[in-house]
Amino acid sequence: MIRNRIIKNGLFAILLLCPFAIQAQQRSLKPKADLLKIVSQSLEQSAQQYHIMMKRLPAGRFPVTYYADKDKLVTSGSEPWVGGFYPGGLLYLYEQTGDTALYHEALRKLEVLKKEQFNKTTHDLGFMMYCSFGNANRIEPKPEYKDIIVNSAKSLATRFSEKVGCIRSWDSDAGRFMVIIDNMVNLELLFAATRFTGDSSYYKIAVAHANTTMKQHFRPDYSSYHLVIYNPKNGEVLKKQTVQGASDSSAWARGQAWGLYGYTVMYRETKDPKYLAQANHIAQFILNHPNLPKDKIPYWDFNAPGIPNVPRDASAGAVICSALMELAGYASPIESKRYMKAAETMLRSLSSPAYRASIGTNGGFILEHGVGNYPRNADIDVPLIYADYYYLEALSRYKQLKKKR
Ligand code: GLY
Repeated sequence: MIRNRIIKNGLFAILLLCPFAIQAQQRSLKPKADLLKIVSQSLEQSAQQYHIMMKRLPAGRFPVTYYADKDKLVTSGSEPWVGGFYPGGLLYLYEQTGDTALYHEALRKLEVLKKEQFNKTTHDLGFMMYCSFGNANRIEPKPEYKDIIVNSAKSLATRFSEKVGCIRSWDSDAGRFMVIIDNMVNLELLFAATRFTGDSSYYKIAVAHANTTMKQHFRPDYSSYHLVIYNPKNGEVLKKQTVQGASDSSAWARGQAWGLYGYTVMYRETKDPKYLAQANHIAQFILNHPNLPKDKIPYWDFNAPGIPNVPRDASAGAVICSALMELAGYASPIESKRYMKAAETMLRSLSSPAYRASIGTNGGFILEHGVGNYPRNADIDVPLIYADYYYLEALSRYKQLKKKR
C-alpha cells in the first residue's frame, strides 16, 4: 500500500517536472532569423489555404486527400484514423496566427469528432483524439476536453493484452494479435489520461507497449518492421512483415518516422534514458541512410526499388522534422546540433515550392507529394492531411524556440 503510494507520488513528481525539464533544455536551441521569416510566411499562407479548404469541405466531413486530375476532394466521417488532424492543424494555425475563423472551424469539427471517444474498434485513438482534443485543451483547458481524453484512453486501454504486452492495432481472426509500429504515436494519449486522473494504469500500459515494441519491432540497425503478429495466448511472435512498405525487410519511411516520434514522446513522458537512446538510434538510422536525399525528405520507403525515380513522402518528412526538433531538446550538444540542422533542412524543403502548394491550388491542402499506401496503389504523390498536421506542428515548434529563449 505504502509502496504503491510512493511509486504513485514519484510518478507524479516526474510528470509534474516534465514540462519544465523540456523548457529548460530547449532554451539552448537557437532558431535562425531567415528561417523564422520563412516559417511565419508559411504559417500565414497555410492559414489562407485552410480558408479555401474550409469553404469547400462539407459540414460534418473531414479532409483526407485531393486528386488534382479530377479536382476531387476526398473526405471522411470522424471514424478513420485521420479524423483528428484537420482540427489539430487548425488549432496550431489559430495559435500561431490568431485567426479566430480557423478556431471556430476547429470547434465545429471537434463537435463531430467527440463521439469517437467511445470507439473501441481502433488503436488510432491517440492520433484521432490527442492531436485534436489534446491541442484544444492545451490552448483552452476545459473539463469537457479532459473527460474526452480520459474516455478515449479508456477505450484504447481495452485493446491492451497483458499476455502480449501490447495494445492491439488491427482486429483480425482470434489467433493473431497484430501490432504496427504506428501504434507508438497513440501512447501520448495514455500519459495525458494518467496526468488528468492520477490513475497510473494508463501510464503502465504505454510503458509496457513501448518496451515490447522496442524488443520485437526493431532490427539490429534500428530500422523497424511495419507489422509484428503475436500469438494472443502467450505473446510469442508469429511473424514480422510489412503491409505499407516495399518488402518485409525494408524500412518503410513513415514507419521509421512513427518510431522516432513515439520514442521521443516516451522519453519526454518518462525520462527513462533507454527511450532517449532508442530515439537517438532511430534518428541515426534515418539521417545516416545513404538513400536519404539531399533535401532530407525521404522516398516513400528507404529501400524502394527504383530509387531515385520513386515518389517522396512529405508526410514522413514532416513527422521526422517535428520529432527531431523535440529530440534536439533532449539530446547531447553534438546530436542536438545535428538534429536541428537536419530539421531545419527539412523545414526549408517542405516550405519551398517543391512541396508547399501555392495558394488556391492543391484542394486547399498545404503540402503536396505524400504517399498513403504504395503497395495498394492508393494515394501516391498526393496531399495528405497528416502531412499538413505534422508540418504545422514543426512550424509551430520552430517558432516556439524563439519564445523560449
Ligand atoms: N497509420 C497509418 C499510416 O501511417 O499510414
